Amino acid sequence: MNPIVSDIKTIDESRQGEAFYSPDIEVINDINIKRFYIESYGCQMNFSDSEIVASILSDCKYQPTKDIEEANLILLNTCSIREKAEETIRKRLRTIDKIKLSKPGTMVGILGCMAERLKQTLLEEEKLVDLVVGPDAYRDLPNLLNQVEDGDKGINVYLSREETYADISPVRLESNGVTAFISIMRGCDNMCSFCVVPFTRGRERSRDPFTIVSEATHLFEKGFREVTLLGQNVDSYKWQHPETHESYTFARLLEEVAFVHPDLRVRFSTSHPKDMTDEVLHTMARFDNICKYIHLPVQSGSSRVLSLMNRTYDRDWYMNRVEAIRQIVPECSISSDIIAGFCTETDADHQDTLSMMSWADYCMSYMFMYSERPGTLAARKYADDIDDEVKKSRLSEIIALQNSLSREHNAKDVGKTVSVLIEGDSRKSDEEFKGRNTQNKVVVFPKVDGYNPGDYANVLITSSTSATLIGEIILT
Ligand code: 5AD
Ligand code: SF4
Repeated sequence: MNPIVSDIKTIDESRQGEAFYSPDIEVINDINIKRFYIESYGCQMNFSDSEIVASILSDCKYQPTKDIEEANLILLNTCSIREKAEETIRKRLRTIDKIKLSKPGTMVGILGCMAERLKQTLLEEEKLVDLVVGPDAYRDLPNLLNQVEDGDKGINVYLSREETYADISPVRLESNGVTAFISIMRGCDNMCSFCVVPFTRGRERSRDPFTIVSEATHLFEKGFREVTLLGQNVDSYKWQHPETHESYTFARLLEEVAFVHPDLRVRFSTSHPKDMTDEVLHTMARFDNICKYIHLPVQSGSSRVLSLMNRTYDRDWYMNRVEAIRQIVPECSISSDIIAGFCTETDADHQDTLSMMSWADYCMSYMFMYSERPGTLAARKYADDIDDEVKKSRLSEIIALQNSLSREHNAKDVGKTVSVLIEGDSRKSDEEFKGRNTQNKVVVFPKVDGYNPGDYANVLITSSTSATLIGEIILT
């Protein structure tokens, strides 16, 4: 088993490569209608982008299908964050090749970060790819598809300083009808030395707040009860009204979205320790419907490594931010991203990471081995000098520690009654519901008549594992 996929399940891991299909989309029996099939890999932003792509395609007579065999157009929305992510896509392309051979005329497209990183070489190396479209070029899809239909290849990897797709209403694919993502910004200006994202997603830009609030309002009216505001670094959200010059910070945006309705839960991801302000924390504390959960990636617990990573904060700064969370939003849970075996990492640095994890008491972490990415600052400046075996064994220790922290965290909830937003059936049984509490913990409990997805239920927690709280509804 891959050690990263321990018994700590992440949304990202469980949804990798998921094919999108919405049962809500009306199936039109028109011979001019073509079908597209899309698989998404990587971060939540990619899943959100696929919904923008679906919207653009539905405007040019393409309907989604979850059956790859009947698709005229097969799209992979790709991730470049680690080498393994790219390998997975290349493997998937080999399988898709067989489908394409058996059904000539089927078009295959690569979207997202891998398209941006590899550009023209993807068309040359991967002969079966017809279309290569970067994250800022999705509006050009109809035009590119025409080019492919005319026998040419279609490529657009232009990175924009303005594109936010603000006016596009995403088609909610594979939706549970209860929770949805809203992109509030694109790109990243941070230049963490290990990270390829600033190169594949371009400069940071924030989306018009009025379109964000209006999207949240529409979702609420359609029955959705939770929105997650997405950005690589939500704390650096900033927008200025072109006429009044009034400015919006992330704290203000959060407040405006929280005002949409008290029954609409608001989450956000990802927070950056260098930019997370007390103002945001005070806003969280003031609104019951802003979930008490912050994803605050530390990456490493060693100040020396953090400096090489160009994270622009040190261990003390990070601890100060965690203390601010504990003081201002005491019931808030915190999760993290951690990289094992970054360039020059010593055993002492690794111990600093372990001690930081225990001190911060993360409820959950996404944990990775360092993977050198071509073109990044680290690839240019430092040798990838930690042995694979050492990286693996450090990662195993990190995972083991996180498992025990998560288990202890969840055990402390036994006996408490928590408010859960019901998202749907649990993975294991259609006689059980699954939902999350405000701290983002997954809660599973037997169904009770009168309760449906989208409802809030008070659940008494009776037992727990490292990944799940188990309980029963308390009838009021
Ligand atoms: N190697 C390993 N992990 C990485 N991440 C980003 N780049 C790399 C890399 N080159 C991790 C970071 C980031 C998360 C999204 O992915 O922890 O926060
Ligand atoms: Fe990558 Fe750092 Fe930007 Fe996150 S903040 S996307 S890790 S460069």
